[in-house]
Parts: sequence; C-alpha cells; structure tokens
Amino acid sequence: MVRLRMFSSLLLLGYIVGSLAQDVPPYTEDCRSGTYPPNGPTFLGNIEWYTVNLDQAPHERWQKLISDKKAPLASLLQAIKNLANAFFPSGKLVEIVDKVLPSLIGTLPYPYGDEIKGIADAAGLPLGEILMYNIFYEIFTVCTSVVAEDTSGKLYHARNLDFGLFLGWDVKNHTWAVTELLRPLVVNVKFQRNNKTVFVSTSFAGYVGMLTGMKPGIFTLTMNERYSLDGGYIGVLEWILGKRDGMWMSFLTRSVLENGTSYEESKTLLSKTKILAPAYFILGGNKSGEACVITRARDSCLDIWDLDIPKGRWYVLETNYDHWKAPLPVDDRRTPAMKCLNKTGQKSVSFATIYDMLSTKPVLNKLTTYTTLMSVSENTLEAYLRNCPSPCVPW
Ligand SMILES: *[C@@H]1O[C@H](CO)[C@@H](O)[C@H](O)[C@H]1NC(C)=O
Ligand SMILES: *[C@@H]1O[C@H](CO)[C@@H](O)[C@H](O)[C@H]1NC(C)=O
Ligand SMILES: *[C@@H]1O[C@H](CO)[C@@H](O)[C@H](O)[C@H]1NC(C)=O
Ligand SMILES: *[C@@H]1O[C@H](CO)[C@@H](O)[C@H](O)[C@H]1NC(C)=O
Ligand SMILES: *[C@@H]1O[C@H](CO)[C@@H](O)[C@H](O)[C@H]1NC(C)=O
Repeated sequence: MVRLRMFSSLLLLGYIVGSLAQDVPPYTEDCRSGTYPPNGPTFLGNIEWYTVNLDQAPHERWQKLISDKKAPLASLLQAIKNLANAFFPSGKLVEIVDKVLPSLIGTLPYPYGDEIKGIADAAGLPLGEILMYNIFYEIFTVCTSVVAEDTSGKLYHARNLDFGLFLGWDVKNHTWAVTELLRPLVVNVKFQRNNKTVFVSTSFAGYVGMLTGMKPGIFTLTMNERYSLDGGYIGVLEWILGKRDGMWMSFLTRSVLENGTSYEESKTLLSKTKILAPAYFILGGNKSGEACVITRARDSCLDIWDLDIPKGRWYVLETNYDHWKAPLPVDDRRTPAMKCLNKTGQKSVSFATIYDMLSTKPVLNKLTTYTTLMSVSENTLEAYLRNCPSPCVPW
C-alpha cells in the first residue's frame, strides 16, 4: 500500500514537473508589510456569511447555502471527474464513485450521512460524488496555521488554507485548476442553536467537516494535513473496505466545535479520539498560555506542543511537518513564516502583522485559497479570498 501511494505520488509529480519548471524557483521575498486591511493583487475579495440552523433536521439545514452554490459545486465536481478520467480513461474510477460510495453513506455517524444526503439532494448532484468531495479535503489540503499571544495575553489564531496540490496544473494560466474552482465555494458559516451562535467557521459549500473554526469566547481550532507512511490513503481505503473504527478527522473537528465546552476538554478529545489518518490539530484557548499543536498518528497522540510564555515561546506555528523535524526543502514555508513572526515580535502581534506574514511568499502560494484571522476574546473571525499572481511558488 505504501508502495502504491509512493508510486502514484511519483506519477503525479512526473506529470506536472515539466510544466511547473518555470514556476519552481523559490520566489521567496522579504516579510511583507502594509497588506492589512487586505488590498492589492493578493486579495481577491471578502467571503460571504451564511447561517446554518442546527435545530433543523440534518437533511434540511444546508439547503439555503447549497441552492446559492449549486453551479460552482457542479463545476468543481465536473473538473475532478475530468481529472479522474484523464488518469483512468476507462471511466472505472468515476463508476466506482457513483455506484459504490452511495452504499457507504449509511455507515457515517449522525448527523454527517444525513447532511451529505441533504446536500446532494439540494444540489441535484450524485450522492457518491458529494461523498467523494467530502473525502477529498482529508487528502489534498496543505496549510499554515499559527496561534500567537501578544504581551497583554490576548490570543490570535490564523491560517492560510492551501488546497488542490496535484489537482491539474493549468499550463497556460499558471494556476491549479481545482484551486481556482474552489474559491467561489468558500463561505463563512455561523452555526446556530436556539437562535444563538454555537460556533463560526470558514468552510467550503457542500463540505460538512470543519478545517477552521471558533467557539466564541472559548476556543479556536484549525486542522492541517500530516503526511506519513501510515497515511491517509490507507485509512480511507480501510474505511471503504469496512474497517470503520476511526473517525474522519474533519468530523472530529466539527464535533469538537459543535459540542466542545472548554479548551482542556477539546484538547483531550483531539488527542485521544482514534482517527482515520494522521493530522495536526492547532488549538487556541481563551487565556494566556492556552494554545498547542497536537501531532496525531491514527490511533495515538505523538506530541502536544504548548505555548510557553515564560520560556519565550509566544507562538506555535504548524505547516505540514512534525515540528521537531525539518520540513522538506522544496516545501519550507515554516522558516519564512517564523522569520517574519520573529521580526514582528510579541509586542507587535495583531491581525495586521499576522496577515502580513501570511501574505509573504511562499507562505502565500498558488494553492492559497483563503486566509482566516480569529480572535477568541473579541469574538471576531475574518476571512479573505487570496491570490498569488505570477511569479509565485506553486505550493
Ligand atoms: C485562464 O485565464 C483566462 C484569462 O484570465 C480565463 O479566461 C480562463 O478562464 C482561465 N482558465 C482557467 C481554466 O482558469
Ligand atoms: C428564533 O427567532 C425567531 C424570530 O427571531 C423566532 O420566530 C423563532 O421561534 C426562534 N427560534 C427558537 C428556536 O428560539
Ligand atoms: C452534538 O451533540 C448533539 C446532542 O447530543 C447531537 O445531536 C449532535 O449530533 C452533536 N453534533 C455532532 C457534530 O456530533
Ligand atoms: C474561557 O472558557 C471557559 C470554559 O473553558 C469559560 O468558563 C470562561 O468563561 C471563558 N473565559 C472568558 C474570558 O470568556
Ligand atoms: C525564531 O525565534 C525562535 C525563538 O527565539 C528560534 O528558535 C527560531 O530559530 C527563530 N526562527 C527563525 C527562522 O528565525
């Protein structure tokens, strides 16, 4: 299985490297400044807010949002199918998705199966394809997340979401086809119960898991992909084949955001629940010192890396590599990000300086879809659509 994964990764790499060559140079730059409030060519627009009412039945609660986003959702799924058919010209892969996946929907825990069915019905798209779309995020997301504390003890949690690696490099436009199609699907969602906001999130229309969210006044949470030999593909395949004792990672983050009651409780749930694939959970609380990066294997917690203000660790930053190991040299977003934060210093932490860091290449790259800034104490979540005009590093 590991071989299969490595082989398919190599195949994909080979496929794109030729056309990427001219975009590969590092394109690193000095730490940006003055990028906030968002402006200029790296800012593509604000993100619309929707409300999802958790008092409604799971099948119904996404209808309004999906009726607005039907067309871009259909375009994205078509592009993914075209890619699948380019790699497997027999059409077999799409056939499996349409015929086999729907039979698995009933095995998803409440409320996810019903929500996905409701989304497929509202969009008028095949159930198997909507389920595949929900699985996709568990595999193709690369990111940068950070929680930083200022000198007054206030916490800031922010992230770039980079999505679409390997999903169709557009040679003419120097863009990732899927990343482009994804941007119109980015939404901010306010989840309410009894007319009260339970949590808020930056998400993708049609996706029921969570990658970025905040429980006002209590905690903030983001998830980053973690690559490992015992990786996501194996867990996903096992799940399809019937071994279902692990939880989808983004379902776990959704459950924690929806039903978690404190930083400590969420930390325990995120580190102890058995999951389908390795992941990083980046969690921020509501008081000084409350932030950590949880490095997860599928059935164990490998490490919890906490803020440590007395020792001078006033931020924790995670890209897609274990913090105690060096990142891959061709994908080092960590060093430039840390360089900018170190230059900023704890006394100058703010949405503006964090946004500057997240706007600096290669922390900002061709895959970057959105930037979210969260402040738990001020109850604010701001999110912006991003763009990285050429010349820009592809990932
Ligand atoms: C490529 O760029 C052109 C001009 O900006 C645009 O019209 C076209 O839709 C783009 N193609 C894709 C696949 O994004
Ligand atoms: C929520 O508020 C609306 C009007 O603002 C009201 O009609 C409705 O009954 C409320 N729902 C709940 C569950 O309190
Ligand atoms: C949160 O808890 C409620 C009540 O127990 C439950 O109905 C709901 O499905 C839970 N939400 C998630 C996402 O697990
Ligand atoms: C911080 O979160 C706890 C729950 O963990 C809550 O009881 C407390 O009121 C929160 N503090 C603030 C300042 O909101
Ligand atoms: C940033 O500062 C930390 C703490 O002083 C240090 O460990 C790290 O090496 C610095 N990183 C960079 C890239 O400057």
